[in-house]
Amino acid sequence: MNAQDIVTSIIPHKIPQQKGYGQANINIALSKYWGKRDIELNLPNNSSLSISLPSLGTKTSIEVINSTEDAIYLNNTKIANEELFAKRISLFLNYFRNNNYFKIITHNSVPTAAGLASSASGYAALVIALNNCFQWRLSNNKLSILARLGSGSAARSIFDGFVIWHKGQQQDGLDSFAEPINMAWQELRVGLIKIDTTAKKISSTQGMQNTVNNCELYQAWPKKAEQDLIKIKQAILVKDFNNLGKTAENNALSMHATMIATMPPILYWQSESVTTMHKVWQLREQAINVYFTMDAGPNLKLLFLEQDEYIIKQKFKNIIVIKPF
Ligand code: DP6
Repeated sequence: MNAQDIVTSIIPHKIPQQKGYGQANINIALSKYWGKRDIELNLPNNSSLSISLPSLGTKTSIEVINSTEDAIYLNNTKIANEELFAKRISLFLNYFRNNNYFKIITHNSVPTAAGLASSASGYAALVIALNNCFQWRLSNNKLSILARLGSGSAARSIFDGFVIWHKGQQQDGLDSFAEPINMAWQELRVGLIKIDTTAKKISSTQGMQNTVNNCELYQAWPKKAEQDLIKIKQAILVKDFNNLGKTAENNALSMHATMIATMPPILYWQSESVTTMHKVWQLREQAINVYFTMDAGPNLKLLFLEQDEYIIKQKFKNIIVIKPF
């Protein structure tokens, strides 16, 4: 089954209403997705676990237009149809159109392509807007599958809070969707440290493909990621912050170790990323419970508890602190 077959099997045949709207938050993986078992369907080699960040994400409206091409606007600017961003969205929309084109107006409250997972909230918001426009009334699990076809991590952005994306076993990927963990953690904080917000040179799609194909260490990754996910889930259920932080940081560094051990190497870090890591470790030596995680970019995301928020804000002047719950 290819992606078009999957979409056709999921969506009821409906004529689009004129307009639809969707919004979704970005998510930060605590146990990461890195590597695909099916490239077209974005089926992962391992399950992953994330936390969604309210107030940071994407708002998208969609409108059926009488035209021979899509019109795509990002943050009030029309994006040329030849640009990769627009091409990717139009290719995705191909799965859903019946000879019609769309005007997409999308607003991101996070810098695009800066390792802050804007593609995750972007495809999740787009799928929710499509569901609204076509009045499909799909379940969240189905929306998660459709969002996954746009970008793997978008499967998780359909939900708030802690979310697990099951890797699934089936070839058609109909068992590879995300689900929320029914657990709120009021004291938890996520801090965004922006080191460089310009677009990265190697996309996550390309980076993970290179790693899967050209890194001997990668063999160890899927098993380690599954074990980390279990540890993190358990830490969430019993609110064991140190185990959560320790496991999430180690998971991120292990993922980056596979990138670095790829030939040719993929290193998303900048010198300031490394300086910030050292700063986090020094703070831990001073009994301040702070950990970091990093995605396919140079920026760090800190994990800490409310009780340390004041001191963390003192130590990291430009930090943006998010309260996930
Ligand atoms: C490092 O979901 O952006 O952020 O499926 O190719 O679109 P595609 O990749 P994407 O990869 C995210 C990778 C990551 C880890 C994670 O979010 O789990």
